[in-house]
Amino acid sequence: MKLKHFGALLFISVISGCAVYTGLNYDQLFGKQQIQSRTPEYNSKAAQRFVREIKPILDNRCVVCHACYDAPCQLKLSSVEGIDRGANKNLVYEGTRLTASNPTRLFEDAQTTQEWRDIGFHPILNERSQIPEANLEAGLVARLLTQKKAHPLPEQKQLEGFDFKVDRQQQCPTIENIDQYQADYPTWGMPYGMPALSNKEHNTLMSWLSDGAVMTAHQPLSKQQIKQVKIWEAFLNNDSLKQQLTSRYIYEHLFLSHIYFSDSQKATPNSPIQFFALVRSATPPGLPVKRITTRRPYDDPKVDRVYYRLVAYPATIVDKTHQPYAFNDEKLKRIQDLFIKPTYQVDSLPSYKAKVSANPMTAFASLPVEARYQFMLDNAQNTIMSFIKGPVCRG
Ligand code: HEC
Repeated sequence: MKLKHFGALLFISVISGCAVYTGLNYDQLFGKQQIQSRTPEYNSKAAQRFVREIKPILDNRCVVCHACYDAPCQLKLSSVEGIDRGANKNLVYEGTRLTASNPTRLFEDAQTTQEWRDIGFHPILNERSQIPEANLEAGLVARLLTQKKAHPLPEQKQLEGFDFKVDRQQQCPTIENIDQYQADYPTWGMPYGMPALSNKEHNTLMSWLSDGAVMTAHQPLSKQQIKQVKIWEAFLNNDSLKQQLTSRYIYEHLFLSHIYFSDSQKATPNSPIQFFALVRSATPPGLPVKRITTRRPYDDPKVDRVYYRLVAYPATIVDKTHQPYAFNDEKLKRIQDLFIKPTYQVDSLPSYKAKVSANPMTAFASLPVEARYQFMLDNAQNTIMSFIKGPVCRG
């Protein structure tokens, strides 16, 4: 088995010369690749087509595999940003790696599609001339859907020819070498190893792709949500050292949680729940969030002052990564009662040197023991869950 894979790999490296040739062909046929703008305003007709017709199909048939940090080819189809970013053959988990790799967490380690291209992500949508022929011929999603239609699941009791292991060898062809992939693995169209899309779903996706795969800007927040963000950001970013240390403590417990405002959600029970992420920002409330991205939540933010901000979480929710956490008036009061009301002094903020910051017993020693004890009890489930859940699909 191993040998066979090795053979396949060798073969691919030998024929990669042809891939370059095909690549040149696409350039000649449809022009050079160029990132497209695909996010019209949320209420526009084009955006609503994506929201109502396209996203439900992706959510039902693709996101089950393509939503985690360690998804096949790092391809996350659970958000507009993930689709536009595309794919990358590098493995998130690689047991033989000797030194730490640079993380590639969506929404964190790069912000724009161009930044993702610069660190090796290739497009899955056509980024050449936006004519229907190019959109279908030179777009990976269109090619893989067509491939599935041509080679639906083989009629066998037990599936053969598909590897579902988390550490399967992956090919992750770019559009330039999709021909070879299709020749080598004819049954590996998408959805991989699953029944094909229905004709209706297939045609809906293909006609959307043909029209240029327009997606959507984020849904604007409601007045209620904006108000709640303001209240919590005002609290978390109070200037006192006591508050700054408290906010750092809260952030380091909730950075993986999907926060929602349960009071305003109760007021509009029919609208889908909007989740938020608590992030570190170089900018205070009122200014656009400038995310501080570090490998670990307690790593040196390298700014004079950290601000704790709430940003809408714009991706489809999947169970493996989902840790819902309610923010409401009661919770705010509870945190204030535990951490802010008691009389105690924080003389200086702890350093971000690993020796201090990696040990919460040291970093947060100035916070009252009673407050920390109660906070841990109050949030025991959420804290334990963050050992089980998280951005990756294993572990
Ligand atoms: C059962 C899991 C599964 C489902 C469901 C699934 N995929 Fe995939 N997908 C994979 C795997 C595995 C690969 C990697 C194949 C390889 O290159 O070895 C992949 C690769 C891809 C790639 C190619 C990435 C690259 O770098 O070449 C695209 C595009 C893609 N999938 C789109 C989709 C779409 C669209 C759907 C839904 C219609 C879908 N997938 C559903 C497992 C899945």
